Formats: sequence, structure tokens, C-alpha cells
Amino acid sequence: MQRSSKENSVVLPRHIAIIMDGNGRWAKQRFLPRTAGHKAGVEAVRRVVKACVEKKIEIITLWAFGSENWKRPKQEVNYLMELFMASLSQEIKKLHKQNVQVRIIGDRSQLTENMLQHIAQAEKLTAENTGLKFVVAFNYGGYWDITTACKQIASEVQRGVLTVDAVTPELIRQRLTLKDLPDPDLFIRSSGEQRLSNFMLWHLAYSELYFTDVLWPDFGEAELDKALAFFASRERRFGCISEQLEEVEQHA
Ligand code: IPE
Ligand code: IPE
Ligand code: MG
Repeated sequence: MQRSSKENSVVLPRHIAIIMDGNGRWAKQRFLPRTAGHKAGVEAVRRVVKACVEKKIEIITLWAFGSENWKRPKQEVNYLMELFMASLSQEIKKLHKQNVQVRIIGDRSQLTENMLQHIAQAEKLTAENTGLKFVVAFNYGGYWDITTACKQIASEVQRGVLTVDAVTPELIRQRLTLKDLPDPDLFIRSSGEQRLSNFMLWHLAYSELYFTDVLWPDFGEAELDKALAFFASRERRFGCISEQLEEVEQHA
């Protein structure tokens, strides 16, 4: 089990990223419309954010709407847009009181003026908060993130402000979303699916991957604890061998 050398306490991830999946199946099991599953999913978000605040997790990124989700029936897409805005405006004061900093990542070019205003307000209100960083990925896709970075780099090279040789993994990282935050240490996907579905393709390169059959509306602190225990049991080698990690640990 990973333990921090200084306090001998179990190591917590700094950054947790979650694909909140299974809302539709949760509703179907109950003979309810899919929208009821999404609504119940918001309750799970509330529980998980609260638990992360209590556990003093630094960063949590939750995927609320993917760039491919526009392909869903129009009615469901509209509901997800409305639910996102309603939840943001309902929760923001409480989050602010909990010293949570809210950030929204994703392609904003397809969002309405009203949505952009809600997002700007939420981010502005909580910008100076020093507690949990709560990132909501909305209209987010890994391809979009990397493509946007590539376009920016290409434009910089074209304008002569960047040489081709200066393009390194570190530089690419600096053009992606969440450039100022560490990559997720722990990735969680609910509902039994074991795929990334175009989530944070660059950032998840070295994350520990945890999959659970629990459907997102049933996810809560107990499930989070299981994922944290899984994380603590992993040895993260980043290309090294175990013995090298022990050496680093001894010298820490
Ligand atoms: C995840 O649940 C929520 C969003 C994509 C917004 P789903 O809606 O994908 O639920 P399933 O996979 O159909 O059960
Ligand atoms: C990914 O879930 C998107 C979000 C959870 C926001 P999907 O349910 O849309 O993914 P696929 O289509 O099953 O891979
Ligand atoms: Mg799904």
C-alpha cells in the first residue's frame, strides 16, 4: 500500500477525474425517463464533492457532457443543458461557502450566451477560493482539447514566436486545458464500461484506472472510499522499477 513517507498515512490522490456514467440505465431499471437518471446523478455529484471537501482532496474533475453527446435525442440534450445551468446556479453559493473553486472546461463555442454568463459568474465568484478545485468538463472532448492546443502551437510557429524544436511534451501540455494543475492521479468510471470515450486523453496517460459496476446515481462516499483504497494499493512506477522507487522513498 502506498504510504506517504512523512506521516505514514495512506496516500490520497491529488487529482481525481470521473466519468459519471450509467444515469440512463439507472432510470430504465426504475421504468423512469432517462432524464430522471440525470437528475438523480446531480445528487451523486453533491455527495462526491462534499466527501472530497471533507477528505481534503485537492482537485476533482467531473465529466458532465461530452462533445459526442450532441448526438443524443434533442430532448435529452436540451435537458442536460438546462440541468447543468440550474445545478450550477443552485449550488454555487453553497460551494463558495465551502471555499470550493469552480472551473468549467470544454468547448464554449457551442454554448448559449445565457450559459456563458452562468459559467462566468460561477468562476468569478469562486476564483479566489483556496479549497477543493472542482472542475466540470462540459462539452469536453480529448480530441478537441488536443486539436485546440495543436492549432495554437501551429499558429505560434507560423508567426515565428515559436520554433519547431521548442515543441516538446511539456510545451504541448501548456497549451491544453488544466495546464496549471497536476494530471489526474486516479480515474474512476462508473456503470461497468471500461473505456475512456474521448475523455482527458493526454492527461490520463499515467492515471490509475478504477472501474466500478455501480451506476452513477448510486455512487457516494462508500464507493469513493473503495476507489481511494484501490488507489492506495497501487504502485506507481512511471517507467521505473520497484527498487528505484524504494531508493527514492528512503531518501525522501
Ligand atoms: C452519463 O450517463 C451521463 C451523461 C452522459 C451526461 P448516461 O446518460 O450515459 O447513462 P447510460 O450510459 O445511458 O446508462
Ligand atoms: C461519456 O459517457 C460522457 C459522459 C459521462 C459525460 P457516454 O455514456 O456518452 O459514453 P459512451 O458513448 O457509452 O462511450
Ligand atoms: Mg453512458
